[in-house]
Amino acid sequence: MDGNGRWATRRFLPRLAGHRQGVESLRRCVRACAARGVGVLTVFAFSSENWNRPQDEVSGLMELMGKALVREVPQLTKDGVRLCFVGERASLSAGMRGALEQAEAATAANSRMTLNVCFNYGGRWDIAQAAAGLAARGEPITESSLHAAMGMAHVPDPDLLIRTGGEKRISNFLLWQAAYTELYFSERLWPEFDEAALDEAIADYAARERRFGRTSEQLRQEQEQPDPLRA
Ligand code: IPE
Ligand code: MG
Repeated sequence: MDGNGRWATRRFLPRLAGHRQGVESLRRCVRACAARGVGVLTVFAFSSENWNRPQDEVSGLMELMGKALVREVPQLTKDGVRLCFVGERASLSAGMRGALEQAEAATAANSRMTLNVCFNYGGRWDIAQAAAGLAARGEPITESSLHAAMGMAHVPDPDLLIRTGGEKRISNFLLWQAAYTELYFSERLWPEFDEAALDEAIADYAARERRFGRTSEQLRQEQEQPDPLRA
C-alpha cells in the first residue's frame, strides 16, 4: 500500500495524514474485495525495514494501527472478515501484541474473506525464520516443509499482487509465495486506489494466461478435454 507519504506531501499535510487516509483506502478496498468474492486479501502494512523511518512516523504508524484495530474489528466481524497478522511479533510492544491477538481471536470464526495484514513483515525474514524453525526441530528442509512453516501457510499463494504508488519493485513482500503471482503496478497513490482502480487491476489480471511453466498449447488441450465427471 504505497504512496501515503506522497499523497500527504502534495497536499502540504504531514505524512501521518497520508497514513490516516491510507487506512480509509484500506477499509474501502476490503469492502470492495469482499463484495467481489475475493477469498483472501493480503496487505503490506509495515515492513521490517520501516523501523528505519523517522521515530515520530514509526510511533504514529503504531498508534494508527492500534486505533484502527479497536475501531474496525466490530465492522469486520459483521462483514465476515477474518483478520490474521503475519510478521515478527517479539519486537512489538506487549500492548500491540495483545491487540493483534485479540483482533485475531475476535474474528477467528469469520469465513467470508481472510484479511492478512503483514505487519513487521519481510519476505526474507519469513523464509529465514521458517528454515531456522525446521533446523531447530531437526526436520528436513523441503519446499513443502518450508511453505508450511511460513507465515502464509494458512492461505493459497496469491494470484495477483498489486503495488500502488508507481514503483516497480517487490520490496521484500511475499518473496516465496509470489513465485507464480501475476504482478500489477498502479500509478495511483494508495489513498487514491478506489473501486475503479481495483476493477482495472482485476480486468488486467483476467486477461492474462497463467502457464505455470507449461506451454499455451498444453493449456488449450487441457481445456478441450471433456470433464470426466460431466461426460
Ligand atoms: C505507505 O506509503 C507505506 C507504509 C509504510 C505505511 P509510504 O509512506 O511509503 O508513502 P510514500 O512512498 O512516501 O509516498
Ligand atoms: Mg513508499
